[in-house]
Amino acid sequence: MQTREVIERVLQKITPTDEERTFIEDLMRELRDIAKETIKTLGLDVKPYFVGSLAKDTYLAGDHDVDLFLAFPLKTPLKELQERGLELGKVIAGKLDSYEIAYAEHPYVRARYKSVKVDIVPCYNVESWEQVRTAVDRSILHNRWVLENLKGRNDEVRLLKRFLKGINAYGSEIYVRGFSGYLAEILIIKYGSFLDVLENAHFMLRQKIIDPANWLRRAHEITMRTIKREADRPLIVIDPVDPRRNVAANLSWERYGVFYFKARQFLEKPSEEFFFPVEKKTGSYFVELKRKGTHLITLIFQKPEVVDDVLIPQLERSARGFEKALSREGFKVLGWNVGYTGGKAFIMLEVDRREREKVTIKPGPELYTQRAQDFYEKNERVWLIGKRLYAEKRVKENIVHVIIELLEKNQVSIGKNIRDEVKEAEILVNFVPSWLGNEAYLFLSREKWNLKN
Ligand code: CTP
Ligand code: MG
Repeated sequence: MQTREVIERVLQKITPTDEERTFIEDLMRELRDIAKETIKTLGLDVKPYFVGSLAKDTYLAGDHDVDLFLAFPLKTPLKELQERGLELGKVIAGKLDSYEIAYAEHPYVRARYKSVKVDIVPCYNVESWEQVRTAVDRSILHNRWVLENLKGRNDEVRLLKRFLKGINAYGSEIYVRGFSGYLAEILIIKYGSFLDVLENAHFMLRQKIIDPANWLRRAHEITMRTIKREADRPLIVIDPVDPRRNVAANLSWERYGVFYFKARQFLEKPSEEFFFPVEKKTGSYFVELKRKGTHLITLIFQKPEVVDDVLIPQLERSARGFEKALSREGFKVLGWNVGYTGGKAFIMLEVDRREREKVTIKPGPELYTQRAQDFYEKNERVWLIGKRLYAEKRVKENIVHVIIELLEKNQVSIGKNIRDEVKEAEILVNFVPSWLGNEAYLFLSREKWNLKN
């Protein structure tokens, strides 16, 4: 299929229809009126703003979350902004269908209205980056910058976002570490179109620094500080509204790398599947284990009630902890995989063997030292290699027993919110319950991360 044809087909699916647009516009108008009226009744000096992809018209069809920001005057003390902001949010949300309190840097209200999620977030009414006080204050500036610079290329943003979603590289949340919506918008503004961004995937990486608002000239020192701080990242995109910030700060090498390879693949052989992938192929993890001659250790435990932003990094850290601890014990970890389904979390480790030798050789002190006598007394068989004493040490041979011992002795570095749960984990060898079968296959075959499918 021709590139143009693919793009046309995708656009048909992701561009909001007139009907949807009207619905959204009416909804926003209604919300604005409710907010204004509530602010007036409460006698507050607050300005309501819409930010995010709805306000910029860069949302994907069917994907609409409203971000309603309540901008307080700069002179408002932070504590007052938090309290009043939350109160105001609650009163507004009380006029909608339902709401709950959500927590970010400060608490905010997450409401629902006509089946649409509405985040009501207090912030400062900033005019420039020097006035930014909380993490969300920049959004109003982002919105303004994108509206001023996008110049009708909204569909190009939609294409890029859908492409990034399709290849699993969209979202700056810590458990994705991909491209944020704002980063996608900046890339379109910088390079012109969806295809131009793909064609520049290699160049971007070589150049590394993208500075669309010319901060290097306007505020050289501050910008250089950002560049130095972010030197290890795949991309440094100086925020057009704030030279202190790298818009791509949360973009991992893996997610950039996936984009890099997929961009080339798409240009060579365009297809809709990049945007709307079909399910990954499945197979038998058991066959994989046979093929590779490796072993699969799976820890399954209760998932604690924490958000993904907390849970996923802790699962990853724990998997690396096991990798380190087991390699000290003589097991080679070829790879790991973590995640959760429903109320259960898991850590999978692919290891070279399930049993090790029954003893290790333990080096002792040098023969003429104080401790040498002790070592000689304590051990059954003692011998010399050069001037150093050696002895045998009996150890647990089965990997499950080794893991249990490591956990008992706190010798594995484990995320603090899952420590108790991991200690109670069920440990399975070369077998997983059926709900994990496909996950085990995708992990062992590496289809989960394979760039070539
Ligand atoms: N934002 C940001 N950096 C992030 C995440 C969010 O600067 N890593 C700000 C941006 O100003 C963005 C706003 O928060 O416009 C809303 O964030 P989000 O909903 O994640 O992005 P959208 O642009 O609304 O994209 P989407 O269509 O995915 O909702
Ligand atoms: Mg959004």
